[in-house]
Amino acid sequence: MSDMQSVVIATGSYLPKRIVTNDEISTFIDTSDEWIRTRSGIEARHFAAEGELTSDLAIAAANDAFQSANIDPNSIDAVIVATATPDETFPSTASKVQHAIGMKGGFAFDISAVCAGFIYAISNADALIRAGQAKRILVIGAETFSRIMDWEDRTTAVLFGDGAGAVILEAQDSERGILSTDLHSDGSHHDLLYVDGGVSSTGTAGKLRMQGKEVFKHAVSKLAKTAETALEKAGLQSSDVDWIVPHQANLRIIKATADKMNIPMEQVIVTVQNHGNTSAASIPLALDHGVKTKQIRKNQIIAIEAIGGGLVWGAAILRW
Ligand code: UT7
Repeated sequence: MSDMQSVVIATGSYLPKRIVTNDEISTFIDTSDEWIRTRSGIEARHFAAEGELTSDLAIAAANDAFQSANIDPNSIDAVIVATATPDETFPSTASKVQHAIGMKGGFAFDISAVCAGFIYAISNADALIRAGQAKRILVIGAETFSRIMDWEDRTTAVLFGDGAGAVILEAQDSERGILSTDLHSDGSHHDLLYVDGGVSSTGTAGKLRMQGKEVFKHAVSKLAKTAETALEKAGLQSSDVDWIVPHQANLRIIKATADKMNIPMEQVIVTVQNHGNTSAASIPLALDHGVKTKQIRKNQIIAIEAIGGGLVWGAAILRW
């Protein structure tokens, strides 16, 4: 093990061009702007164009990160893509990204932890860096959830969107970087949030199914707890946090978690109103938004937390 830290040296993002407002979604689903806004905080979401794949979103987010920090893609030695909506069953979406960005060596793989995918991905990237297996890792959360919506199910179809966010982690001898991570899963809650298809079950991609109220209750009870455990592992407390960058599923969950952690909403990056729930992409999209709007700055303490189908949940603490 090295005593290297995994420091974020760049962020990037990409959102498909098509913006679908609540009013537009109300033209083909029996719902209203008022219902969606008050229950979830969502006002609009982006949908990928026909033929625009998860890998296309991921590649665009990666290129944005390379450009923002003037980084040569060939200096990357690993690519991890967190996604529940890969282009194909195999190969991994990450290997498509690796090829598209022109990497000649290194390795690439996907991580499947749905909405907690980005937390799982940076936790794994951090472990690879600490083990000395990679020095610069491109970590992406990328999703096209519009492809697994059941448009007849208004309880889920109004909530999700497409997008991708990326960070580049670098091994550095530094006080900055990923200070701690905290991961959990509990497969007994499978039926609360899942896709009703798959290669070895139905032979189809399937559609998303969610018992929203139940997932909501788990989110409210688990997210503050995992964030506080991660803070404890880092030797910090809630009062040290400069920004919570939460998974963006529901504004009410985001507020309840911040409230439990005693952190005011002024210290929470919120993008759910414009993005909807983009699953594994939501945290890196929000991180990039925080960086580009100059809210997130060097040396600040950032807490990220998420929960998703599995159930899977977790948190990470970074000194930016
Ligand atoms: O990212 C993974 C984690 N996922 C989450 O964190 C999602 C967690 N869950 C939630 O965010 C919320 O539970 C929802 C936003 C999904 C739903 O909010 P809710 O306050 O739990 O509403 P509900 O499911 O209890 O539905 C309330 C009512 C029902 O009508 P009745 O039975 O009270 O007459 C639904 O039929 O709202 C109705 N309803 C709708 N009405 C208009 C459900 N969906 C819609 C809709 N438009 N789209």
